[in-house]
Amino acid sequence: MPVKNFADFAQNCRQHVDQYLDVSFPENLDPTQLRSAMRYSLFNGGKRVRPILAYASALAINPEQNLRLIDPIAAALESLHSYSLVHDDLPAMDDDDLRRGKPTCHIAYNEATAILAGDGLQTLAFDYLSRTDLPPDIQMELVKTLVAGSGVDGMVLGQAIDLSAVNQQLTLEQLENMHRHKTGALIRASVRMGAIAAGANKEQLNKLDNYAAAIGLAFQVQDDILDVTSDTATLGKQQGADIAHNKPTYVSLLGLEAAQEKAQSLYKDAINSLNGFDDSADHLRQLAAYIVERVY
Ligand code: IPE
Ligand code: IPE
Ligand code: MG
Ligand code: MG
Ligand code: MG
Repeated sequence: MPVKNFADFAQNCRQHVDQYLDVSFPENLDPTQLRSAMRYSLFNGGKRVRPILAYASALAINPEQNLRLIDPIAAALESLHSYSLVHDDLPAMDDDDLRRGKPTCHIAYNEATAILAGDGLQTLAFDYLSRTDLPPDIQMELVKTLVAGSGVDGMVLGQAIDLSAVNQQLTLEQLENMHRHKTGALIRASVRMGAIAAGANKEQLNKLDNYAAAIGLAFQVQDDILDVTSDTATLGKQQGADIAHNKPTYVSLLGLEAAQEKAQSLYKDAINSLNGFDDSADHLRQLAAYIVERVY
């Protein structure tokens, strides 16, 4: 049964996904450092927002949902996300040395190992989807949803737009398109996958998708805000990295205040999208607040 207090719920979700990841992907006598680099990137203190979204979304559809059934989906999302961060930090991309308060994968290991660890984490994600106890047609739907969120029409496209936008002046529309792909797409997939696993119907999926699109964009708007307003110790990654790399962001385009207003207005959109859901969607409502209020 879900725990009503959000902090307890989030902690419960983190424990679920961490335990599943730990048991399913143990350290072994690997003569290379590949597995070690993959585990390093999985267990270095991520907030686990995407897994929490999948669990919360499943509970919004079925309050009695057994969370164990969602564990492999949560693990798939976190594995995919961790790969995206390992590659995002590479010298050819954002060239960052610090992630989650620790040296980035290519600093702790080396660049080639980090590239391969990312590759391994990406395929591990799809392996996890093949391990769910769900009917084959639902499993296939999950695979397609993760591909849509992470692949050439989702996160990877967003990353490509991001890299081509360095030193460029983007319109607000172009910036939003970039954010919706590089961060929003995987967040949308997270919400959708939890809901599909719990047996959501089309109408429910549509409402949840509107919710996810709003908080997915809000998540990256807040990431841009924190790059300016937070500090390196709190963030666990280099503060000011966007400015240093001359990346267009919501703050650089709109200014801090308007970026904060944008995050608030997206929060309201997310909450309104959940009209018609009863208190079984409260975890999703609380998550939306967390996403725009988070400090790292
Ligand atoms: C950081 O994601 C990268 C973005 C998509 C903005 P998170 O803020 O979820 O990072 P972790 O997983 O908690 O480290
Ligand atoms: C990352 O966006 C989006 C990903 C797909 C990983 P950022 O480059 O802004 O993320 P941070 O700030 O390095 O975490
Ligand atoms: Mg980046
Ligand atoms: Mg980055
Ligand atoms: Mg950022």
